Amino acid sequence: MALPSNLHTSRYSKPAVLLHWAIALGIGFNLWWGLQFDGLEAAKAPDLRSIIDLHKSVGITLLGLVLMRVLWRVSHRPPPPLPGLQRWERLLSTAVHHLLYLLMFLVPLLGWLHDSAWSAAAAHPLVLFHELPFFRLPLFNNMAAATRDHWHDLLGEAHGLLAYTLLGALALHVLGALKHQVIDRKPELQRMWFGR
Ligand code: HEM
Ligand code: HEM
Repeated sequence: MALPSNLHTSRYSKPAVLLHWAIALGIGFNLWWGLQFDGLEAAKAPDLRSIIDLHKSVGITLLGLVLMRVLWRVSHRPPPPLPGLQRWERLLSTAVHHLLYLLMFLVPLLGWLHDSAWSAAAAHPLVLFHELPFFRLPLFNNMAAATRDHWHDLLGEAHGLLAYTLLGALALHVLGALKHQVIDRKPELQRMWFGR
């Protein structure tokens, strides 16, 4: 496929590409890891706690990477849209990008809130990757245990629901990218990859 001569001006910058793929990898891992929890709980897996701890560690790291990504995005101009897209394609891909930004921020934030509301949180300190003690959000500290449990359940539901929505948005995003690349034969993936 002939690549346009101005491809270098239509790529995302290196930090944007690096953050995009690091976050994609982390989210992919955490979605897959999170989807095992119900089965492991039912099987009473003895190492369930440390399995969930790894999920939390990756999730908090993702929250930091997402903040960096959003700061980079608002302070650096992205490349112009892929030329030749139909209006509906441009609108749909922009809408899915906005939804992904929203969800990649809200999903780990709700996970952190869910974990912070846990009435047994004090007995299980949050230590990232078994090394780095980290704080919980102090919103629930003065609540009765039953109220905390109520919030814990509610926020857990919201966390899971939005994680599934993220999975759906990701499927649309990947299908869209593959359509442009394979069916329309446009250099879509190159836009979000390293190069001169
Ligand atoms: C959870 C995983 C992913 C998330 C959260 C995500 C999120 C995003 C977001 C928000 C953008 C818009 C960038 C901007 O305008 O600032 C983007 C662009 C892009 N993503 Fe992903 N992405 C993920 C996975 C993937 C995968 C697996 C592919 C491969 C098919 C992919 C390919 C692309 C491409 C090619 C672009 C550039 C779109 C364009 O402007 O033409 N992404 N991604
Ligand atoms: C982008 C990052 C994250 C993704 C994609 C994600 C995804 C998921 C998924 C799919 C589940 C299973 C939901 C269900 O079966 O209903 C889950 C559960 C859970 N997540 Fe996350 N999560 C993320 C970040 C976090 C963070 C940052 C924390 C806490 C600091 C966290 C804590 C939890 C907990 C405690 C559960 C429930 C485990 C149980 O069943 O007791 N997650 N997550």
